[in-house]
Amino acid sequence: MLESLIQEWDGEAVIVRRDQPTGSWTFIAIHSTLLGPATGGTRMKSYSDQQAALQDALRLAAGMTYKFAVPGIERGGGKAVISIPKSLDPESRKHLLRRHGKLIRQLGGLFYTGPDVGTSSADMDIIAETGSPYVFCRTVEAGGAGSPAPFTALGVFAGMEVAYKHVFGETSLKHRKVFVQGVGSVGALLVEHLRNAEAEVLFTEVDDRLIQHFRDERDVQFVPLEDAYKTECDVFAPCALGGVINESTIPQLKCHVIAGAANNQLAKPEDGAMLRAKGILYAPDYVINVGGAMASPAIETLGWSHSHAEERVANSVRSALERIFAMADSADISTNEAARRIAEEHLSKSGQPISASPTSFPR
Ligand code: PHE
Repeated sequence: MLESLIQEWDGEAVIVRRDQPTGSWTFIAIHSTLLGPATGGTRMKSYSDQQAALQDALRLAAGMTYKFAVPGIERGGGKAVISIPKSLDPESRKHLLRRHGKLIRQLGGLFYTGPDVGTSSADMDIIAETGSPYVFCRTVEAGGAGSPAPFTALGVFAGMEVAYKHVFGETSLKHRKVFVQGVGSVGALLVEHLRNAEAEVLFTEVDDRLIQHFRDERDVQFVPLEDAYKTECDVFAPCALGGVINESTIPQLKCHVIAGAANNQLAKPEDGAMLRAKGILYAPDYVINVGGAMASPAIETLGWSHSHAEERVANSVRSALERIFAMADSADISTNEAARRIAEEHLSKSGQPISASPTSFPR
């Protein structure tokens, strides 16, 4: 039941909207505004049922709270999930995005959005027609910062090196086997970073067009989905959907490091302890994938340059992971527990929720 999901959740509010013309459901989960206005992507896909969609929104919104809290960014956690029917024609989709933008504008700064799974910068241009100024990552032509994916991929790559070094004592991924699950917007760019670093890259993917492109045109080694979790590798990089690290996949894993871009990689927090017991170093998802959420809003509202943003993302992911790995070792706790403690520390120091009006933010 939707009711019990919300009851068990520790967030602030959920906005539910039924879109009659398309038969879609929208859930905007506001997890925390303690550090600033709730900010998170708009995910658009079809789900098995509305419970699964709401559950995704609730968990992803909490992830955003922690994502901003670890580096101390003055934003809160939120996420929008638009649960669409299996087929949606392009015109109807555009109108749906405009209605989504209108709702965001009506929220008046409670929630800021950007792209996520199933939405692009071009979609942000459409949402912004009705949702401005609460929409990040419009296309560069429309005056936005463009896709956040390059910043996310850069941070994941920098974080992967730190994690690899923590286990093997050296940073270079040259000739190391790195297995990328999902070559969507971020995964594809991560493959480029890895190839430039001369790593041995393997990938799995469900989209036939992407399989063809990377396997046949780019000559990247393809692993069928059914062999994914038992594939031997140095680093496993989940870059697709969430929940892939769970009690049934962990026993199969033959990697030393997990460092990828997907949100909500662990099915449950306890899975982090299972990884630690198995000697696998896990780079917590919301720590390593902060790049886009850190860079794009800062470029648009704080005037960061592209190169400054890259530097900030790489440095901040590196230093956060170093601190987390050291803390996990000294306290003998999982890395996700260490990350949670750091985030909670920042959240508990924040005092009163910050007003979400656009005039008072950003500072
Ligand atoms: N949706 C992405 C994330 O999960 C990135 C993003 C969020 C980009 C908010 C801009 C604004 O972090």
